[in-house]
Amino acid sequence: MRGKFITFEGGDGAGKTTQISLARSYLESCGLALIVTREPGGTELAEEIRDLVLNRPTGMTPITEALLIFAARAQHTAEVILPALQRGAWVLCDRYTDASFAYQGGGRGLGDGVIGELEKIATNSLQPDLTLLLDLEVEEGILRSGARGEAVDRFESENLLFKRRVRESYLQRQSQCSERIKLIDGALTADAVHSRIVEELDSLREESHG
Ligand code: TYD
Repeated sequence: MRGKFITFEGGDGAGKTTQISLARSYLESCGLALIVTREPGGTELAEEIRDLVLNRPTGMTPITEALLIFAARAQHTAEVILPALQRGAWVLCDRYTDASFAYQGGGRGLGDGVIGELEKIATNSLQPDLTLLLDLEVEEGILRSGARGEAVDRFESENLLFKRRVRESYLQRQSQCSERIKLIDGALTADAVHSRIVEELDSLREESHG
């Protein structure tokens, strides 16, 4: 049986990393075979593209950025995601195409039409079975990522307006695809967020048994 494809989305600082690791432990304790991967990245080539996209200092146009991210995604989908799903493993992915609708479509202003076209070409419009959107006030996300003291990438260093556009685009997309994208309040404690996520994972498990 084909595995399930689950993605985690949200602005920076919303707690994706913690939740992915909790979700992984939970699903492993249920005896499921799974892989955890991330975007941009997840293969050797795609990780090189990630480095370009996240760390190249200045001058990258929005469409160049989008094309690079979709090039990485095409490789990652073909080399890692589809083969894992086909052998029956579940795939937990830190961001996927919804991030491009939010960051490149909304944040950079390319619009949904362009992203939808790239999606067709790069992934044949592969959609996750479940997307967990961890939503958080932009200001709170900035405070939390700042507190981690890690190096800041090209997106984290963007201004408040950019980050607000990203959040708005995520919320808009969630309302358009509310069956697939579950909105989760990232301001709750990590335990409370995890419990919400477990509810969603359990319904997906029931679906795959039934
Ligand atoms: P992120 O998961 O936040 O990595 P980290 O936890 O190491 O900071 O992803 C890196 C950045 O890439 C994030 O700021 C959003 C950006 N991004 C896009 O702009 N478009 C995309 O399609 C994806 C997948 C990520």
